[in-house]
Amino acid sequence: MFDLSIDLGGLRMATPVTTASGTFGYGTEYADLLDYTKLGAVTVKGIRRDPWPGNGMPRHCEVPGGLVNAIGLQGPGIAAFLENYIPHYKMMAEKSVARGGGGDIPPLIVNIWGGSVEEYAEVAARLSESSYAQPSAANQQPLIGAIECNVSCPNVKEGGHTFGQDPVVLARLVKAVRTATKLPLIVKLAPNVPDLRPYTAACEENGADALALINTIPAMVIDIRTRRPVLANVTGGLSGRCVHPVAVKCVYDAHRFSKLPILAMGGVYGWEDAVELMLAGASAVAVGTATFTAPDTVAKVADGITAYCEANGFAAARDLTGAVCV
Ligand SMILES: Cc1cc2nc3c(=O)[nH]c(=O)nc-3n(C[C@H](O)[C@H](O)[C@H](O)COP(=O)(O)O)c2cc1C
Repeated sequence: MFDLSIDLGGLRMATPVTTASGTFGYGTEYADLLDYTKLGAVTVKGIRRDPWPGNGMPRHCEVPGGLVNAIGLQGPGIAAFLENYIPHYKMMAEKSVARGGGGDIPPLIVNIWGGSVEEYAEVAARLSESSYAQPSAANQQPLIGAIECNVSCPNVKEGGHTFGQDPVVLARLVKAVRTATKLPLIVKLAPNVPDLRPYTAACEENGADALALINTIPAMVIDIRTRRPVLANVTGGLSGRCVHPVAVKCVYDAHRFSKLPILAMGGVYGWEDAVELMLAGASAVAVGTATFTAPDTVAKVADGITAYCEANGFAAARDLTGAVCV
């Protein structure tokens, strides 16, 4: 068996492939459509402390090569997430046993956000305080495998600037979440900064275990007939095929600036895109917008990585990380 396993800052993944937050629900929605054994982890939609309604409609718009969305981080809040979804994961595992599988589901990466540093820390602590064991006794890994902090949202308590665009605030946030949890801590950075270096340093120096890149890129679409913005929120975030080269450059930079392992996302539509991000410096990759048009994309990427490695003399998938010849 080819070795696809990787270690993402303490999160052991059977394959280097996961889903991008916000594009795969809470992980239960696709359970009957996909072979989850091809996934190294499932990353869920962003959760904050309290339920959050998100933005008004319309909140997404297709553009050439991508999608502009302004969902506005709609979510059920941490208590409802734990109460409603944990039993679902257990049911998924039981179904897998009934089908003759081992009963394991990939560890969850829980994406979190908040309006203050204190809120992030509180949500991280809530996720860590109970040990949500895998339903299969043979699997020693906890069901909740890691926390991913989305720092591309406004710091409401301190003036409304985005956490991820002020290295001093980012450093404080990472330190507070680090203190609140022992779970592997992934910090998801924004691509729209002039230089990633102060941001990767803020993560590394304050106890993050891994970086995630890239979040969506700020964007806007205007309907020229009505002369009005298409999205109710006026602006949104661009994702999809068109952002892929931006992701490759961000990952390449972050890998040079920091020793932290990188989870890369941005326009992964097939294994070729995943391999490209790994060569640029990623240890793992996430499939996002592609899931909306081809839900099985994420399940196909791992096989393509294996075939590429075997054809090109790589003994393990992890050997691809940073192997670009510059
Ligand atoms: C509809 C939608 C919702 C998203 N929601 C979140 C979210 O809740 N938290 C987060 O960190 N990123 C969120 N993202 C960003 C994605 O996780 C990913 O970083 C980005 O879309 C780039 O990957 P892609 O081009 O493969 O979609 C969302 C993206 C989309 C398209």
